[in-house]
Amino acid sequence: MSQRKILVTSALPYANGPLHMGHLVEYIQTDIWVRFQKLSGNKCTYVCADDAHGTAISLHAEKQGITPEESVARINVERVKDFGEFHVEFDNYHSTHSEENRQLSESIYLALKEKGHIASRNIVQAYDPEKNMFLADRYIKGECPKCGAKDQYGDNCEACGATYSPAELKNARSAISGATPIEKESEHFFFKLSDFDGFLKEWTRSGTISDEIANKLAEWLDTGLQDWDISRDAPYFGFEIPGEPGKYFYVWLDAPIGYMAAFENLCARRDDLDFDDYWKKDSQCEVHHFIGKDIVNFHCLFWPAMLHGANYRTPTRVNVHGYLTVNGEKMSKSRGTFITARTYLEHLDPEYLRYYYAAKLSSRIDDLDLNTDDFIQRVNSDLVGKVVNIASRNAGFIKKRFDSTLSATDIAPALTAEFQAAASRISDCYEGRDFGKAMREIMALADKANAWIDEVKPWVVAKQEGKDQELHDICSTGINLFRLLMIYLKPVLPAMAEKAEAFLNVEPLTWQDSQHILTDHGVNNFTPLMTRVESDKVAAMIEASKEVLAKMSEAAKETEKEAASSSQWLEKEPVADEITFDDFAKVDLRIAKIVNAEHVEGAGKLLRLTLDIGEDKPRNVFAGIKSAYAPEALVGKHTVMVANLAPRKMKFGVSEGMVLAAGPGGKELWILEPHEGAQPGMRVM
Ligand code: MSP
Ligand code: ZN
Repeated sequence: MSQRKILVTSALPYANGPLHMGHLVEYIQTDIWVRFQKLSGNKCTYVCADDAHGTAISLHAEKQGITPEESVARINVERVKDFGEFHVEFDNYHSTHSEENRQLSESIYLALKEKGHIASRNIVQAYDPEKNMFLADRYIKGECPKCGAKDQYGDNCEACGATYSPAELKNARSAISGATPIEKESEHFFFKLSDFDGFLKEWTRSGTISDEIANKLAEWLDTGLQDWDISRDAPYFGFEIPGEPGKYFYVWLDAPIGYMAAFENLCARRDDLDFDDYWKKDSQCEVHHFIGKDIVNFHCLFWPAMLHGANYRTPTRVNVHGYLTVNGEKMSKSRGTFITARTYLEHLDPEYLRYYYAAKLSSRIDDLDLNTDDFIQRVNSDLVGKVVNIASRNAGFIKKRFDSTLSATDIAPALTAEFQAAASRISDCYEGRDFGKAMREIMALADKANAWIDEVKPWVVAKQEGKDQELHDICSTGINLFRLLMIYLKPVLPAMAEKAEAFLNVEPLTWQDSQHILTDHGVNNFTPLMTRVESDKVAAMIEASKEVLAKMSEAAKETEKEAASSSQWLEKEPVADEITFDDFAKVDLRIAKIVNAEHVEGAGKLLRLTLDIGEDKPRNVFAGIKSAYAPEALVGKHTVMVANLAPRKMKFGVSEGMVLAAGPGGKELWILEPHEGAQPGMRVM
């Protein structure tokens, strides 16, 4: 078989937050596939990059008081480290904010323009007159035009499910500055996707994506494709459109081009890789993208159309996975199931997760669940109980009785042959991304090996006189069976495979090595390859993920009391009983920025505060601090809030948390003000 040349990508993670367990589904899945290809002897190149552009990223930087470039660079350092420790091994990890990407984005745009695929027209959009910027839907909030629910974002109501245009929102506000948006006209540039209608209908049915995805896309394709708005007005963190001062490429235009840019950047320092060889129209190389189901339209409509229109090759395949849930639910900060890559690494071995995800992944787009009990049970029973056990049951005898040398005879040739024959089946599973099936095949073999050892009982043979040869052959065969399993598991467990290679005293194992066994071969000392998952470490990880723990001051309780006394149904006085650490750990204290403060009609003591704690939506909180503060004096200040207090319905609206203050009361009441540097959303510990 000739060597395939394959370029592989994972979606480029946004540079506005830490990597979490959900992201890792994708990067681990892709890395396993890439490692499998490399192990099989294919020339496989894996690139990725930070997705650096767009409003979310510049706002994230602004909140920290640094430039987007600085913010992206900081996040890059963390994630490169995270990826490395999870053994996600890119051949190159680049950035969309790079010179290669600027040039490629410009040239692709110009090629599309030259062929008449770019249109321009004026559109009217919401504009923040304070920030002097246009507002995307998700940065506008107001009251639902249908049911009147407050604080609804963009174009749909979370309360009643109505959909509308953001212009219909009542009392609309900019979520960035709080200003009332005005309508403003400006010229936008559009990619005429409908020019590619016929091409896309064919492309989506040509084996490039699963039928499952193609069927979903057909719904769009059949109702007619809309022009795609690819420009944004300044200020925008991105690339300026050539010939259109003040207009920038929308982040999703240059993001997928970032795949090419990351590869081009790698080609510049690798003689064996040629950019055109992989990207020219009739390329014989393969390009495989791995993405989550939320970004299918970008990768299976816009992206192939752009490539086709600019006379490049289109992807060989777009592989789509589902979303991660933890213990059956969406990842949640308060339940401690919003687990970042870093928090996981502080508690657990990354290979546990690699194996668990592998065991759960298929080629379909079903969501997958990380169930913590199942995780512990599965890793312990499969990896430690089955696989490592085979080696540890035999290694001791080989060392003590046979001078650490394997015998010349395979005592169970039929079993060995069965193990070797499985290579092609397991290979098909990896190739088709059916990792769950691959793991089941491998564990079924491990069961057979263990059953065979139980049957031949080396520990009994060891005590019998004159059975040295038999014992030697049994243990050597056992070690060989273990070796075959490690070859099959190597894409998933690279670190464990490396330890096994050291023990077996062999060169890095390849897939082809499964077709022979070790005879008359010296091995090294056996060291434990993997230890059991300890459930208290999993619990500690969940605890650490729960947002912050802190002590609630008496003053804070006072404030709560005052605020609550204005509510209609206060019955209980807060009582300061002794609390356990666990009670304390339940309190999620956050730095909050007071973005707005106002009087509440009819409330003697309360001010209505709008608090930014770094979430999508600001919080509405009623605080009993009117006697001490004029609203204007509060706007812009940072303070501390209890972010996980159950929402409380008051006469004046729902209060979504509590701010902390100290003092005897009346005029002598001060909200807690953190030091400079504390930013909205930071945990208070
Ligand atoms: N920046 C875009 C991708 C641009 S590609 C040219 C983006 N970034 S992301 O950080 O939001 O997501 C990166 C990848 O992680 C996406 O493929 C996304 O589907 C995946 N996941 C993010 N959260 C996830 C889960 N909870 N579960 C599984 N995958 C998830 O989208
Ligand atoms: Zn509504």
